[in-house]
Amino acid sequence: MKTVLVTGGTRGIGLATALRFSENNWNVYITSRKEENLAEVLGEHSHLKGFVANADSEEAAIETCDAIVKETNSIDVLINNAGTNPSGGYLMDVDISRIQKTWDVNLLGPLLWARAAVKAGLKESILNVASVGGIKPASYMGAYNISKAGLIYMTKQLAKELAPNIRVNGIAPAVVKTKLSKMLWENDEQATADLHALKKLGTPEDISNLIYFLSNEEASWITGEVVTIDGGYLL
Ligand SMILES: NC(=O)c1ccc[n+]([C@@H]2O[C@H](COP(=O)([O-])OP(=O)(O)OC[C@H]3O[C@@H](n4cnc5c(N)ncnc54)[C@H](OP(=O)(O)O)[C@@H]3O)[C@@H](O)[C@H]2O)c1
Repeated sequence: MKTVLVTGGTRGIGLATALRFSENNWNVYITSRKEENLAEVLGEHSHLKGFVANADSEEAAIETCDAIVKETNSIDVLINNAGTNPSGGYLMDVDISRIQKTWDVNLLGPLLWARAAVKAGLKESILNVASVGGIKPASYMGAYNISKAGLIYMTKQLAKELAPNIRVNGIAPAVVKTKLSKMLWENDEQATADLHALKKLGTPEDISNLIYFLSNEEASWITGEVVTIDGGYLL
């Protein structure tokens, strides 16, 4: 049985991804910042396992990856999903501490978890959850979008550095209906949906299907790609 580690797996895209792997008989570990969130999800889904671990902590990344290898003998796939956006606003105005947190969790974090997983013996692939914001600028999302643009570049850099043994890919979603994006759709969902050619928001399951495909053997000749999944937003 193969093992996958999904950072930030208590809700949204991360939880849908954890369940997608689990349905396919993977051994699935998730992380969360909060003991109570983790306990609730593990209580509901007894086949999942997890650790409290902040995505921007090198120590937590190393401890988590080492603990998983101790329990299961291997980590096959890492999904760098955890992300945050406390930094809405114009780059000239947003508190530097909020920008720093965004870049720590969204950009440095995936590198810390990639390093920890590789050092622990990661076998197959890494998948980074970026964003269309990393491709096309949007007002008010500058700090977040810069972190995702960096993550897109990092995906390609790591793909080159970790080949031929480990594949590294990414995805770039537009607006997916989750807690993180709530401020973009809660006032007028259809107006936000209309920004996408398909006139609907993405669902966590739309995204987890692509993550699952890119992360396992069916995509064994794909590396260094960041696949846009945006309902036609960029058209
Ligand atoms: N939703 C969208 O429209 C959209 C579009 C493009 C890209 N994305 C990206 O997709 C990824 C998942 O987002 P989502 O929309 O599914 O968000 P979400 O529903 O808010 O879920 C975020 C998950 O990340 C965890 N998390 C947040 N900060 C963390 C930290 N510092 N350390 C560890 N875990 C942390 C949360 O768990 P706890 O609260 O339990 O810690 C939660 O499980 C993110 O990287 C996001 O940037 C989302």
